[in-house]
Amino acid sequence: MSVLLDFLEFIEVSRPQPLAELLSRVLLKSRQLTGAEAGTIFVLRGSRSRRRLEAADAQNDLVSLQSIPIVIPLNETSIAGYVAVTGETVFIDDLYAIPGEKPFSFDPSFDRRLGYCSRSMLAFPLLNHDRKVIGVVQLINRRDGEGKGPLPFKADQADLILPFNHIVGSAVERAQMLERIEAQNIRLKRRNVQLQSQREKIALLKDQTEEAFQLSISLLARAAEIHDDNTARHVKRVNEYSWFMATLLDLPRAFCDEIRYSAQLHDVGKMSVNVAILRKKGSLDEEERREMQRHPIYGYQILSASDRLKMAAEIALNHHERWDGGGYPHGRKGAEIPVAARIVSLADIYDALRSPRPYKDGYSHERARDILLEGDERMDPKGLLDPQIRGLFVEQHQGFAEIWDRVGS
Ligand SMILES: [Fe+2]
Ligand SMILES: [Fe+2]
Repeated sequence: MSVLLDFLEFIEVSRPQPLAELLSRVLLKSRQLTGAEAGTIFVLRGSRSRRRLEAADAQNDLVSLQSIPIVIPLNETSIAGYVAVTGETVFIDDLYAIPGEKPFSFDPSFDRRLGYCSRSMLAFPLLNHDRKVIGVVQLINRRDGEGKGPLPFKADQADLILPFNHIVGSAVERAQMLERIEAQNIRLKRRNVQLQSQREKIALLKDQTEEAFQLSISLLARAAEIHDDNTARHVKRVNEYSWFMATLLDLPRAFCDEIRYSAQLHDVGKMSVNVAILRKKGSLDEEERREMQRHPIYGYQILSASDRLKMAAEIALNHHERWDGGGYPHGRKGAEIPVAARIVSLADIYDALRSPRPYKDGYSHERARDILLEGDERMDPKGLLDPQIRGLFVEQHQGFAEIWDRVGS
């Protein structure tokens, strides 16, 4: 009856629980069933040549144990090693009188250190479902019901435990596996935290690089327009009109984002034009005009060096081309002119109309709109601009007025 209860208790032991706790319970239960005064439970650890037995728990009713890690190499020279290697159950009546023909011997140094005297021993293997050894239980000094002893262990004491060996072994194996999975989980979590913080650092670096890039090109754009009585707001507004027009044309998101910073660089080439020509008050002579009209090419040369400024380079090169082919520097017409340049062309003209110049006040939005719609004595918008872009401007002109007001003059 009591054996059955113990069996049921061991089954209960086999539910998942921390390995160290389970091993302590197995050792304690083994000692209770056999009357052992002391004992040690070992588990097999390490792989291949580094296989070894490590004490998971040691118990002794008489002396207090120091927590010295006990590690035994996996060979037959020690009792636990012998049990682990052979899978045999070993009974020893007197540890200090082991017959010489046995391959193992008893190491008395623990006794000496603890001031204890080991006498009898029962050592048996813990087996898993495949009958492979996964650990060793060593029980020491049996006492009988009245506490007399130490007495030798007998086969019938071992019989109380061994029938449940594989249940215990499986529980131990499962707990070991759970522990390995948990350790793996902890490592993975730590790794994830590291990766996350690296990703954040990279993102921050990217943001900072992007900010530096945006700042550099806006300064470049501003520097290029400095001789034109244009303000920093002019380049900002041209960016915004261009972005707005690109969205009206339903161009891809990446295109809209790119034109929003590329548009401002349309006149970068002016930095290569002689300042005397740029600042000249009266009209330019033929040679000066030709030099001035080279600024699209200069701009293209400056900007085409950078991959991220490919669109800006196209805009710089083509923003003075006309829809009818009468523009410069190449006299391209219609769809030969990149769409980004056609957009910026309208944006730049609208902004120029609205901006005050030494020789004129800035025009109202309505007047600028009418000029882009009908033309005036100086401008023929039909020959100048892409009809689709001009049509969208006429439809959505209020959006341009809003940008002018929002960015400010
Ligand atoms: Fe220009
Ligand atoms: Fe401009």
